[in-house]
Amino acid sequence: MEQVRPLASDVEAAVRAAMEAVLPPEASAADPLIRRSEHADYQANVALSLAKRMKSNPRELAGTLRDQLTDVEWIEAVEVSGPGFLNITLSDTALLDRLTTRANDDRLGVPRSQAAETAVIDYSGPNVAKEMHVGHLRSTLIGDALARVLGFLGARVVRQNHVGDWGTQFGMLIQYLREHPEAAWRDRDVDSSGTAGAVSALDALYRTARSEFDADAAFKERAQRRVVALQTGDEETVAAWQEIVAESEKAFQRIYERLGVLLTQDDVMGESFYNPWLQEIVDELREKGVLEDSEGAKVVFFDDIRGPEDKPVPMLVQKSDGGFGYAATDLATIRHSIRTFDGTRLVYVVDARQSQHFDMVFQAARRAGWLADDVQAVHAANGTINGPDGRPFKTRAGGTVRLADLLDDALERAREVIAEKDPDLSPEELENVAHSASIGAVKYAELSTSRTRDYSFDVTRMVSFNGQTGVYLQYTHTRIASILRRAQEAGHGRGTFHRDLALLPAERELVLVLDEFSAVLVAVAQTLEPHQLANYLYTLAKAFTTFYESCPVLKADVPTDVRDNRLALCDLTRSTLARGLALLGIAALERM
Ligand code: ARG
Repeated sequence: MEQVRPLASDVEAAVRAAMEAVLPPEASAADPLIRRSEHADYQANVALSLAKRMKSNPRELAGTLRDQLTDVEWIEAVEVSGPGFLNITLSDTALLDRLTTRANDDRLGVPRSQAAETAVIDYSGPNVAKEMHVGHLRSTLIGDALARVLGFLGARVVRQNHVGDWGTQFGMLIQYLREHPEAAWRDRDVDSSGTAGAVSALDALYRTARSEFDADAAFKERAQRRVVALQTGDEETVAAWQEIVAESEKAFQRIYERLGVLLTQDDVMGESFYNPWLQEIVDELREKGVLEDSEGAKVVFFDDIRGPEDKPVPMLVQKSDGGFGYAATDLATIRHSIRTFDGTRLVYVVDARQSQHFDMVFQAARRAGWLADDVQAVHAANGTINGPDGRPFKTRAGGTVRLADLLDDALERAREVIAEKDPDLSPEELENVAHSASIGAVKYAELSTSRTRDYSFDVTRMVSFNGQTGVYLQYTHTRIASILRRAQEAGHGRGTFHRDLALLPAERELVLVLDEFSAVLVAVAQTLEPHQLANYLYTLAKAFTTFYESCPVLKADVPTDVRDNRLALCDLTRSTLARGLALLGIAALERM
């Protein structure tokens, strides 16, 4: 495997060397401020920021640096522009050489930058006896993309699905089911989308049980006794609970399979898994002086976490009735991730509304010594998905929107759009393509949004061949695949780079974008923001489209070396796009 430095890093190093040659030491340590530019391949803005500090003329300073840089063999031209920008253009040979190295490596020259890391990624976390709803989509897709990217960059990735499988609500539900044997939830057939069935029945029954609990004091008492029975391990009650959990997990798994995410049954590490350690967590917190008593409950206070009127907000670890809180379980997840998996970075991909919870949990875990300084704990927070009108997403009846229904909508729309674009597809092909396109569309819409921002779930916009969509990227991939197929048929092979060719502007642009791939992945690993990769792939697809419009590949009058070179560009674009899409969990298709 060959690790390839991005060209931008080489440019940065060259500017740094020029600075060291001509500037006093304190000034030469400044950031060269390299960026891509419309006027050249790269622009260095360091002269502007330095001149201010050194009280010198920025254009003059830029000129001095330029004189140094013109000696660099792989730099074609350096110009001073405007108030003191350095416009840097690389030689075509340098660009082509870099691509050759990337193209000859099955990792496309991407470094294993995370090889020292064990990332424990907690994502999805749906709740038992409830259907997965639109709210679980974000964590599921973002967490999955992070698992793929970090894994590709060499990290050991441990996936954790913290399913909500414990709590007083199960006492209520189990009691209700016992009192209503006619509620035949088990016999429900799974519907065509493979998602309704037993769990949607349970979801509805739970709601009925809840209203009975609120309205009928006698039922409330029986339900509370049932909670105790569950907690104390009453055999029959535990069996009923297990059946509900198993049925729910089957339903989650069906959704995961439909979405094509990596989560399996083995990744489920639900709340109940941590029960045996919760008392220990409380005891240890007490011994370490982290825990305080507050009106009978066991809590932790924090200097900097305060509510209205500057009152400190407590983190509830154990309720006054002895029950453990959500926080106790999450403290146990931290201890477990470190002791069992040797996690070096713990990532919780959870709704932004839980940020105070994680802030408290992380701080308490540091104070208790479970989280050492060399372990990073991150709440990779995600915003909310709104309806197409930008308002909170509700069904017409005002209920929460089932994830399965949204996926059905996307599938239906994809079928229409694709049948129109390619009427020759056989019915099976159409079904396959529509499935991949609809899932790709939903994933891309999710992953191209910064995870902290809210966005609107708009199926029509997502499943479109135009604009920044998954379908557009998949389609670009099929176009390149088709060029490469035709080249094979014509006996031209897959192309080769010719380092002496002069490149056209659209070719140069495509080369420069291709070269950014590894830097983008490294950035995603640092920020845990997959949208940087999603946006990059769109830039790449656009650069390819522009290239293909102005640079014919297979036309008869294209000279052989130019054709070879362009084919090699097509091939590398295809593999970069395919790899990038795969890292977002999106299928790269051969035809659509
Ligand atoms: N089940 C929780 C919910 O639906 C999400 C769990 C997130 N993970 C965690 N370790 N707290 O809100």
